[in-house]
Amino acid sequence: MTTSRRQPLRILLRRPAIERRVRELAREISADFRGQHVHLVAVLKGAFVFLSDLVREMEAETSLDFISVSSYGTGRETSGRVRLLKDLDSSIEGLNVVLVEDIVDTGMTAHYLKNILKPRNPRALKLATLLDKPSRRIVKGVKPDYVGFKIPNEFVVGYGMDYGERYRGLRNICILRFPTD
Ligand code: PRP
Repeated sequence: MTTSRRQPLRILLRRPAIERRVRELAREISADFRGQHVHLVAVLKGAFVFLSDLVREMEAETSLDFISVSSYGTGRETSGRVRLLKDLDSSIEGLNVVLVEDIVDTGMTAHYLKNILKPRNPRALKLATLLDKPSRRIVKGVKPDYVGFKIPNEFVVGYGMDYGERYRGLRNICILRFPTD
């Protein structure tokens, strides 16, 4: 999908800048777990593009799993309730787990996931997010360990992120404007 003039989209982050930052994050994570295995857990669906780029840049040996939660439904405001749609396929006991998120906004999803995964006794449980919107945080204790970009309070799509399932395939990360904005 490409950005056309008729869509109310404005580019926030271009693909080359995203690529560079993802490479740096992969280096940082690999260095922190030097010589150790890293288990990347992507939060579906939004994180699938970030994960696919991140895993290919990791120097550390990796394995993957996916978990799926939903809080947004089809709108742009969180429903405030996180629901588990798909659990992990395998145990994380004793593993160095890095949760891979596309965006941390209110922090409710990350908070919920940490709460359900911690009792499963991973060796480490870290949070990597491509985007962080700290101005929207409701759960104040949520502080990602690895952040690609801090962004302002704008609704963003592309690079895996959607609005009503649209725009996930955009190569750039774009701000979606609404008529009432
Ligand atoms: C998005 C995003 C995060 C979550 C962050 O997921 O992928 O998981 O919201 O928001 P929070 O910090 O306010 O909890 P969404 O529910 O839109 O589902 P999707 O990834 O399938 O698009």
